[in-house]
Amino acid sequence: MKKVPVPVDRKASPTLSGNRRSVTAVYPGSFDPITNGHLDLIERGSRLFDRLIVAILENAAKEPLFSVEERMEMLREVTRPYPNVSVDSFHGLLVDYMKERSAQVILRGIRAISDYEYELQMALMNNRLWPGVETVFLMSSEAYSFVSSRLIKQVFELGGDVSGLVPPIVEARLKNRVRRGA
Ligand code: PNS
Repeated sequence: MKKVPVPVDRKASPTLSGNRRSVTAVYPGSFDPITNGHLDLIERGSRLFDRLIVAILENAAKEPLFSVEERMEMLREVTRPYPNVSVDSFHGLLVDYMKERSAQVILRGIRAISDYEYELQMALMNNRLWPGVETVFLMSSEAYSFVSSRLIKQVFELGGDVSGLVPPIVEARLKNRVRRGA
């Protein structure tokens, strides 16, 4: 039987390559410090979106281990292999920052069901603040599903081995920080 080709209206479909518009995603977070779980998400996000901005929240209320500048330096170093990934920081509302940068998508990772409630609340609040925004969730890779910045800092400070869970530059900075007693 002869196959009848299905007509494709490329103009009507923004997701078909060729005529689709460029999509900029923002991956927001504290990244104090960046872990291999974050990096895995960045790598996968860089393949999904035309541009990916990794945006560190400048949060005066939190007492971070690394300053925003230090976190930006580490992020720049580890994202160098991805030409469509840039690193930035922001304060205030995420949706306001996204409008400034003409970004349409928020990228977030979900490690376990315990992340879901917090992420759902944020996605719904962001969508209420700006109905034009979409949050895209990627499941963490199995290898990193238990890794968080908080646990990395705790384990490292207590003398545990975090190699393989954070990029080498982060491990070196952690060693420096602990040696200096900060
Ligand atoms: O890595 P984190 O700390 O879980 O990231 C949280 C972050 C930065 C995504 C979130 O706190 C945020 O977007 N803050 C900006 C303030 C804002 O827009 N709040 C309203 C929407 S929840």
